[in-house]
Amino acid sequence: MSTPHGTPRLAAVIVLAAGEGTRMKSATPKVLHRIAGRTLVGHAIAAARETGPEHLAVVVRHERDLVAAHVAEVDPDAIIADQDEVKGTGRAAECALEVLPKELEGTILVTYGDVPLLSGETLHQLVDHHAASGSAVTVITANLADPTGYGRILRGADDAVEGIVEHKDATPGQLAITEINSGIYAFDAGVLRDALTQVSTDNAQGEKYLTDVLAIARTSGRRVSAHLIDDLWQTEGVNDRVQLARLGKELNRRITERWMREGVTIVDPDTTWIDADVTIGRDATILPGTQLLGATVVGADAVIGPDTTLDGTEVGERAEVKRTEALLAVIGPDATVGPFSYLRPGTELGAKGKIGGFVETQNAKNGTGAKVPHLTYCGDATIGEGANIGAGTIFANYDGVAKHHTTVGAHSFVGSDSVLIAPVHVADGAYVGAGSAVTTDVGPGQIAVARGQQRNIAGWVARKRPGTATAEAAEAAHAAEVAARHTPTAGEADQP
Ligand code: UD1
Ligand code: CA
Repeated sequence: MSTPHGTPRLAAVIVLAAGEGTRMKSATPKVLHRIAGRTLVGHAIAAARETGPEHLAVVVRHERDLVAAHVAEVDPDAIIADQDEVKGTGRAAECALEVLPKELEGTILVTYGDVPLLSGETLHQLVDHHAASGSAVTVITANLADPTGYGRILRGADDAVEGIVEHKDATPGQLAITEINSGIYAFDAGVLRDALTQVSTDNAQGEKYLTDVLAIARTSGRRVSAHLIDDLWQTEGVNDRVQLARLGKELNRRITERWMREGVTIVDPDTTWIDADVTIGRDATILPGTQLLGATVVGADAVIGPDTTLDGTEVGERAEVKRTEALLAVIGPDATVGPFSYLRPGTELGAKGKIGGFVETQNAKNGTGAKVPHLTYCGDATIGEGANIGAGTIFANYDGVAKHHTTVGAHSFVGSDSVLIAPVHVADGAYVGAGSAVTTDVGPGQIAVARGQQRNIAGWVARKRPGTATAEAAEAAHAAEVAARHTPTAGEADQP
């Protein structure tokens, strides 16, 4: 049914996004607010693209430059149409037609930039219905318990759609109608073009209503249909932040459900947030309190969470990432991260590697099986295969002016509580003694020891801390040592 053969070609989708959105009370234009990691207009464009139109136009006006720049970023092929000072959805559609090829034929869809749950699948069904019924206009409608504010669908005695009346223009009898106009339509291109020239601004709002096209088409003897849908979420627009959160939550419910149906275990979908552009492999497990954001990719059989936020991060198969924050990082297969790790941009952890508790990394490439298990800051570093970085090691990459790089070679071992002061190079197969501050390169097979020589000063406690519990303990220990030296042990006494 949905194959284009025999059906009119999908000439264009027009996304209306010129409205102001004052109820958002925001410096950011409404259509640039986000749910599931995409802007509202980004969702509209994604759904429109799923239908494979020849042209896609987005109508802008309010904060025109910001919206146009964003549209160009998410969809460089989209055409920007500027709406002029004439108000209304009809004028918006007309302005789009002006930037589309003049004699465009076939079907044109009109959607809104602030209806983020509308799916490409629903648009496909609209196009199919439109073609199968041989209609000049098909509008998506829904039955609402409370239709306040929406345009109402007017049907004739034969139940055929005759037009749409706006809430503000409706009679009391028309206000009782519960079938509403979603604002999403399929039009025959020629009918839309001709009808719009006849639409006036003679109504309660002084606007050029797109909805008037239906009655005009009908009056000229063309067929007008309604495509009634049950899923009300797909017709709901965002007008304020309460709706933004409501629709965001529902979209997240749909996304988590989709991944569960694809074979991903999500222990608690209510506390798991997954952006629209994330991908997750089969048999991965997502534990409670986890957010997978941006273009994050999780490999098959990986375990993420609890309480983990991954943004633009790639996780290999079977890796485990626990109580971690990661941005633009790459975690190799079978690697382990966390708990309480902070992976900043440019972190790459090799296969079977480990980044452990209270470790912060940034622009750090860790080879296969390399381990940074505890309490470390690792910035601007390359760590070789199988190397081990002891607890509390600091890669001092910043000298107050510039950043510098540190390398630790393959299978090298850095003792606990060391500072590697960049730029510095520790070769393959080298050691750094615990507590060292390393400022010069360490060669293969060498150990660097860079710390004060230990001195033990006898009698210091008795002289400097007399009468303290410490002094008493020292005295007792001393006495016990002396006594032990002079009393033969049971074993010694038995010797012949
Ligand atoms: C519109 C419909 C109404 C329908 C409702 C569904 C008209 C006349 N009315 O009403 O029948 O029930 O949507 O939500 O079409 N826009 C522009 N330029 C404009 C005006 C609006 O681009 O000059 C865009 C807005 O950005 C928005 C969409 O069109 O994305 C709808 O605009 P809105 O003002 O919300 O329309 P409603 O009055 O709610
Ligand atoms: Ca609206």
